[in-house]
Amino acid sequence: MTPEQVISTLQSIRNTNPDNLMARHFNADYFRGLDAGLRQRLMKIIATGIENSDSQMGAYAMSPEDYDLFAPMLDPLIRDFHGIPEDVQIAQAHDWDSSKSSCDLGKIDPRLEAVSMRVRVARNLGSFPLPGAMTRDQRVALEDLAAEAFTHLCKDTNYGGQYLSITPGSPYEIDGAEYDRRVAAHQMFKDMSGDRYLNVAGISADWPYGRGMYVSGAQDFLVWVGEEDHLRIMAMQTGGNLNALFKRLHDGLGRLQELLPAFATSPVYGNVTSCPTNLGAGMRASLHMRLPGLTKNGQDLSRVKEDAKSLGLAVRGAGGEHSDAGEGGLVDISPSVRLGVTEMQIMQRLFDGAAALWAMESGSGPSSAE
Ligand code: ARG
Repeated sequence: MTPEQVISTLQSIRNTNPDNLMARHFNADYFRGLDAGLRQRLMKIIATGIENSDSQMGAYAMSPEDYDLFAPMLDPLIRDFHGIPEDVQIAQAHDWDSSKSSCDLGKIDPRLEAVSMRVRVARNLGSFPLPGAMTRDQRVALEDLAAEAFTHLCKDTNYGGQYLSITPGSPYEIDGAEYDRRVAAHQMFKDMSGDRYLNVAGISADWPYGRGMYVSGAQDFLVWVGEEDHLRIMAMQTGGNLNALFKRLHDGLGRLQELLPAFATSPVYGNVTSCPTNLGAGMRASLHMRLPGLTKNGQDLSRVKEDAKSLGLAVRGAGGEHSDAGEGGLVDISPSVRLGVTEMQIMQRLFDGAAALWAMESGSGPSSAE
């Protein structure tokens, strides 16, 4: 495509898909003004949103520097997604001190002790390109570094567990049946080669090389290697005590920080991630809750999505991203803003929002938690 063809394609996507943030903020004059090399680099970043016009975001960074280099294009869509007005300076502070607030859903209603919760952070090593631009050798080299770090966790009685790789020939390689079992158990990530957004960005390339996961002995601390970000570090638990969940994640993250080369950060955007939706705290905290009353038994998520939006939460069906039906009213709720909020603010928002939805649900007929 010539630059003018790109520009006119984006104009038509803007009309047909007004929610595609990349298309919404695409700046034709800026694009025309770039030299051919930079234009080509920017094309690789926005190709996913051109070929997938139904994208919500429509862009993935290829290297940590992209956020600075292409700020005139990327900053407006980052602000739009994270709700930060143009005249407000973006500032990413961190706060992991969970001693200041008690966020225990079980204290609101004992039935909420049965909710399953998960909090993850995305991290990328500064010494490699982001996943969309990695070679197969780089993917495997990064996995080797991570696997070496995990040997220390495995020897530590607080962690234990094992590293499981799907890289052909890896000393940690598991077979297909074991991989399927881990996916079904919601521990391992799905085959990325089926994801059209990631495919166009090159993020799923070389599948399954350089991909794997660490899981602790208690199966409550996990690290994905080689998914949409170099590392996705997560803690999970059944039970409503968010303080315990966040502390487990912070402790594990601290250990990995000691064991690995430095993570990529930006002075403006905090933790650097492939997808602009994950910048900042790089954190997604979610819980699965049964809200049959608010969702008509999972048939209709539109009302609960509206209610949740006013609480700063996004709702998905419990089947993960792009799933909509919430079987029996089981939904996934999570604070949507990740940039400009601290880790503890995210925890508080999830707690307050879950409590508010639960109160609405309890006023709307019989219900049960999960
Ligand atoms: N690239 C997809 C889109 O723009 C997903 C964006 C958010 N999800 C994610 N996993 N990064 O709609």
